[in-house]
Amino acid sequence: MSEEFAVVTGVSRGLGRALAFELAQRHINLLLVSSNPEVEKLKDELISQFSIQAHSFVADMTNADEVMALTESINAQYKVFMLINNSGIGGSCAFEKADSTYIQRILQLNVMATSLMTKGLIDNLLSQPKSYLLNVASMAAVTPIAFKTVYPASKAFVVDFSLALRQEYRGTPLSVSVALPGAMATNPDATARIQRQGFFGKLTLASVEQVAAKCVRQLLRGKRLILINPIAYYTSMLIPSALRTKLISRVVKREVQ
Ligand SMILES: NC(=O)c1ccc[n+]([C@@H]2O[C@H](COP(=O)([O-])OP(=O)(O)OC[C@H]3O[C@@H](n4cnc5c(N)ncnc54)[C@H](OP(=O)(O)O)[C@@H]3O)[C@@H](O)[C@H]2O)c1
Repeated sequence: MSEEFAVVTGVSRGLGRALAFELAQRHINLLLVSSNPEVEKLKDELISQFSIQAHSFVADMTNADEVMALTESINAQYKVFMLINNSGIGGSCAFEKADSTYIQRILQLNVMATSLMTKGLIDNLLSQPKSYLLNVASMAAVTPIAFKTVYPASKAFVVDFSLALRQEYRGTPLSVSVALPGAMATNPDATARIQRQGFFGKLTLASVEQVAAKCVRQLLRGKRLILINPIAYYTSMLIPSALRTKLISRVVKREVQ
């Protein structure tokens, strides 16, 4: 069995959990990162179901010191040929009602943890004969959206960061991709928001299993942008950015009222 591992963050639920299963089905060894100590149970389940090697790490990815300590611990023990930065949070809220902790957590998880995990593991990734980095952004990254404000801006960072890294590491063993999922009913808040958005919310809706399968397939093919619903993406790109902001913001405003 290969001694190389894929690192996946945010595996206790939602897309992260589905990505872990998708990789395990392909007999890829896993280093599972979560803020939830229950990750131990997921590790045991994956080992017994798929006969892979797996190890779990509990870390609060909103804490930069914990992220760097985690990458040091991984580098000291394992060869990493794949990193999937999936941990991320968001939501909808009028900006004046958003508390500063909520804003900080979005930035720490979506921007800081994604950047520092990548920085911490980059030498390890570059040392493998072939390696892959996937950052999970969002369709929201391509449009500034009122009543979401910080979240789409944080995911725009993830897209730009990924595409710049992809260029920087051309000609090396590392292939960098960025995924732009649309809506996924991963938690009660997301599910309620999608329902309140009506037709618009359902337009890009996909199951986490569908999204995970497409992400892994296209990551291994070295795809630059991984679009879960290309028709919705390219159709929305035909609409001028300012008008797109106006239309989507109107839908989100309804959702928060
Ligand atoms: N749901 C959607 O509609 C949607 C749409 C587009 C993009 N996305 C993106 O897809 C990714 C997964 O979203 P999801 O909806 O599956 O997640 P979710 O159900 O909203 O859960 C939040 C995610 O962040 C992780 N997390 C939360 N606090 C953390 C902390 N302190 N330290 C480490 N990880 C923490 C969680 O993992 P642990 O509990 O294991 O720590 C989990 O993976 C995110 O980057 C999200 O922005 C989601």
